[in-house]
Amino acid sequence: MILRKAISSDQSTIRRMVNDARINPMQLDWRRFLLAVDDAQNQVIGCAQVKPHGDGTRELASLVVLPARRGQGIARALIERLMSENPPPLYLTCQSGLEPLYWRFSFKALSFDEMTPYFRRLWKLVGFLRRFMPGDPHLSVMRWDGPLT
Ligand SMILES: CC(C)(COP(=O)(O)OP(=O)(O)OC[C@H]1O[C@@H](n2cnc3c(N)ncnc32)[C@H](O)[C@@H]1OP(=O)(O)O)[C@@H](O)C(=O)NCCC(=O)NCCS
Repeated sequence: MILRKAISSDQSTIRRMVNDARINPMQLDWRRFLLAVDDAQNQVIGCAQVKPHGDGTRELASLVVLPARRGQGIARALIERLMSENPPPLYLTCQSGLEPLYWRFSFKALSFDEMTPYFRRLWKLVGFLRRFMPGDPHLSVMRWDGPLT
C-alpha cells in the first residue's frame, strides 16, 4: 500500500467511495485528497482530505476505507500523514460512536461552547435533521490541539 495525492482522474472514484460509505458528499475536490492505493492492483483502497473553511479552520474529512480492506491500519496511515502535514488545531465531525477511533489520535470531543460558529451551525443543523431521522446517531465535533501522544 502506498499513499499518494489524488489526481483529476481519481475524482469519480473518490465520489463513489464517499457515496458508498454514506458520509458527507459535499466538497469532494480531488485536489485536497490523499489516497491509499494498493500498488500491486493499482486500486484506490482509502481516501481522506483536509477541508479549509472560510473562518480559517481546517477539517479532516471524507475518511473512507474499502470494506474489504478495513482493520489493516489504512485509516491510521491516512490520518497520521494528514496530521503530519496539517498542524493543529485540526477539526473533524463524526457520528458519536466513532469518537473512540479518533481518541487514538488525540482528538477530543468539543462541547457546544468550544465549537467555532461554523461547527455550531453544522451541529444545530444535524440536530434538527435528526428529528426526522430518529435512529440517526448524534454528531460529534472533535479537535486535535497538540502533538500526537
Ligand atoms: C472508519 C474507517 C475509516 C476505519 O478504517 P480502517 O482502515 O479499518 O481503520 P484502521 O485499521 O486504520 O484502524 C485505526 C485504529 O482505529 C481503530 N478503529 C477502527 N475502526 C474503529 C471503529 N469503528 N471504532 C473504534 N475504533 C476503530 C482500530 O482498532 C485501530 O486502532 P489501533 O491502530 O490503535 O490498533 C472505516 O471503517 C470506514 O471507511 N468506515 C466507513 C466510513 C466512515 O465512517 N468514515 C469515518 C467518517 S468520520
